Amino acid sequence: TQNAMWGGRFASGPDAIMEAINASIGFDRRLYAQDIQGSRAHAAMLAAQGIISDTDAEAIREGLLTVLSEIEAGKFAFSTALEDIHMNVEARLKELIGEPAGRLHTARSRNDQVATDFRLWVRDQIDAAISGLVALQRALLDQAEAGADWVMPGFTHLQTAQPVTWGHHMMAYVEMFGRDVGRFRDARARMNECPLGAAALAGTSFPIDRRMTAGELGFDRPMANSLDAVSDRDFALEFLAAASICAMHLSRLAEELVIWSSAQFRFVTLSDRFSTGSSIMPQKKNPDAAELIRAKIGRIFGANVALMMVMKGLPLAYSKDMQEDKEQVFDAADNLMLALAAMEGMVRDMTANRENLERAAAAGFSTATDLADWLVRALGLPFREAHHVTGRLVAMAEARGCDLPDLSLEDMRSVHPGITQDVYDVLGVHNSVASRQSYGGTAPDQVRARIAEWRERLE
Ligand code: ARG
Repeated sequence: TQNAMWGGRFASGPDAIMEAINASIGFDRRLYAQDIQGSRAHAAMLAAQGIISDTDAEAIREGLLTVLSEIEAGKFAFSTALEDIHMNVEARLKELIGEPAGRLHTARSRNDQVATDFRLWVRDQIDAAISGLVALQRALLDQAEAGADWVMPGFTHLQTAQPVTWGHHMMAYVEMFGRDVGRFRDARARMNECPLGAAALAGTSFPIDRRMTAGELGFDRPMANSLDAVSDRDFALEFLAAASICAMHLSRLAEELVIWSSAQFRFVTLSDRFSTGSSIMPQKKNPDAAELIRAKIGRIFGANVALMMVMKGLPLAYSKDMQEDKEQVFDAADNLMLALAAMEGMVRDMTANRENLERAAAAGFSTATDLADWLVRALGLPFREAHHVTGRLVAMAEARGCDLPDLSLEDMRSVHPGITQDVYDVLGVHNSVASRQSYGGTAPDQVRARIAEWRERLE
């Protein structure tokens, strides 16, 4: 049988394989609410402009609401022969209200229709991502506040570098996720223009009011070029790019949680609610959620690359290639939201092990830089010489199997005779972090000031 929507010039219906490769209803049914919302706005505009009658517009409106409730109640029979969500909804509308349904598609094409629906969907996802990020930031802020002055080792090359505070480490992620929020907001502001009314590619000869539909759908304005409106998917790519960077941040935090929860580190204890066990090793408590979050970057970045590849080289205007935009974005969005929620739960539930953090902070000669700085300040040594003297003291401590504060004053003076008892003040990890008072530094005062600023910003 011929296609009800476009079968007029066809002598036969499509081959089953043709139907299989062509159909998108299997995934784009997720756009049903946006499709119906867009159609309602379009019908209202057509009536306001006198392009269709108020009676027809009312019938369309009622019919679309019935379709919506049927879909939401799970009573809607989706058809592959009808290709996509747009034709499925319209065909059902025709069954429900008859002839007026055929007037809905006046001055519209599936090309501007799908571009509009998808923008609405991506816009919702951006809002959801921002909410998820803010919730995660709040969980991190709570952790930071509880341990604003707890010391832990700061690492470079994953080797002990200098002591930092737990609060400072948590706040580093608050900053990163804050920039992720900014990227999503930027993308939202740029994408918030309405393609509806671009029709197939050239606009329409009907006297439509694109400002009305744009406003109705919460867009700032209609898109200014009809070819561009139906051709580009940069809004989806910007979403995927922002999602990729965000997932990269999530992945780094996840990696830290995996390391920190190991028996060798024991910096944090993850809650039972966000851990799994082993079927053979009874002692195991595995950070599976963190591992999966760590892996999600792969598919999210993969979606970004895949859609770039779909779009590159496409001549204007619409090509069916663009139907491949949706599954990538759906998958990336689903997994980003899941990863954000899981990370928020893990961070909220986890317990930082203060004693272990502090013990680790003191190990590995972590205050060697403080010692060198002291030699500069107290004895007036040039930093390079102070670095050398400290290096010899570290070597001495290492040879004795002790830490820097365990060396006696005589030992110290054998390396540099000017060293006095005062040096021991800077060898403690708490003094070390408290001295890092430069703006953005790890001193608890600094950390508390940043926490207060972020709390206010997230009000
Ligand atoms: N299902 C299609 C898509 O996702 C809708 C647009 C179809 N337009 C067309 N000219 N065949 O892109």
